[in-house]
Amino acid sequence: MNKNAYSDLPLSDALAQLEACTSQPFECAQPIPPALNHAQSFLAHEHDVIFSKEWICIGREDEIPNPGDYLTHEVAGVSVLIVREKKEILRAFVNACAHRFACLVPGNEEDNTSSKGTAKRFTCRYHAWTYGLDGQLINAPYMKMKEGFQLSDHGLRQLQLSTWQGFVYVTLASETIEPPDQRLKTLTNNVVGRYDMGCYITVLRETMIWNANWKNLIGNFTESYHVPMAHGETFAKHEKPLEEYVCGEDNNHYGYHRAAQKSDTGLGAAHPKNQRLSGQWRRMMVDFCVFPNHLVTLMPDYLWYISVQPKGTDQMIATWGVAIPPEVFDDIPKAGYEQWVSEFKHYMDIANEEDKELVEALHIGTRSPLLPTGTYHPLEKNLWQFTKYLSRMCRGSP
Ligand code: FES
Ligand SMILES: [Fe+2]
Repeated sequence: MNKNAYSDLPLSDALAQLEACTSQPFECAQPIPPALNHAQSFLAHEHDVIFSKEWICIGREDEIPNPGDYLTHEVAGVSVLIVREKKEILRAFVNACAHRFACLVPGNEEDNTSSKGTAKRFTCRYHAWTYGLDGQLINAPYMKMKEGFQLSDHGLRQLQLSTWQGFVYVTLASETIEPPDQRLKTLTNNVVGRYDMGCYITVLRETMIWNANWKNLIGNFTESYHVPMAHGETFAKHEKPLEEYVCGEDNNHYGYHRAAQKSDTGLGAAHPKNQRLSGQWRRMMVDFCVFPNHLVTLMPDYLWYISVQPKGTDQMIATWGVAIPPEVFDDIPKAGYEQWVSEFKHYMDIANEEDKELVEALHIGTRSPLLPTGTYHPLEKNLWQFTKYLSRMCRGSP
């Protein structure tokens, strides 16, 4: 960690800055106080009141389509095991054995936070306790030697899991929290439901680690003001005049903006066989953030999502993926599928590179204790809505 003027700021000071910043109306508001990206105290607070309490997107339902398919993913430092128990039943568990808590399913070699596979049951490498896909303990060698030991008392620790539009969310919260489909009802009904993201087929899942605070990425993704200047090789080609963007209503759980691109054919436009979208929605992009950390660029012909978490104040880890609707998928020749995916990944890699330098620049610039006042462009309203969300969560009222 690079120490700077904000690193040791007491939490009460960080919260006071957040309060002061969100007490202004948007028109005269200033950007997120730089201290919030660097104070260790605020990072710990985010861990407690946001990442340990909220729904965190861990990927897409169709990544584990069959009974026995599983994924592991880290949520707020906790390794989580997500399993498809039956055709219609997904479950989430803390990925730790119920005996002496060894990590049950190891992460992959490159990135110790996530792995994917298929299993009939899960056996701990330590003393071979074995669990069914429902998390129940089904075998524990030699435990008959312990009087009164009951398998049924020692299942895996289950977590709340919920799905919305093909996305899978898990929360570490022990109290019941309102599911995403309730929280996102107006977003679904008024804006994104017409795309039917649930039918999109996932074709990519990747991880990236950048040297920036996680909120720097949220700030970058929730505004399209930078697109014409920063994304010359990628998104700027969709030709969406900034004057035509619309920022969505204030909501406690999401923020979005949208704009229609010029062309009604090619990348970013609906496939001729798409019967879900009509009128200008056939060339409409919706960029939305499900608070706190799930970012989606939704197009008629693909979606790109990111789920970002902090790895310290000055590093973030993000899982990102791409999914495409069935009519686009069906058009890809079977023999050319790998090639198609690798070209799409290349396109997204360029877009990510375009953003990476800028997101890391935000982090470097905000280290300074001496800064001008700062301001927002009108198209940065989603970032303001996110800051208000942050403030509500820090006050304990989502
Ligand atoms: S820690 Fe898993 S079987 Fe002992
Ligand atoms: Fe960008």
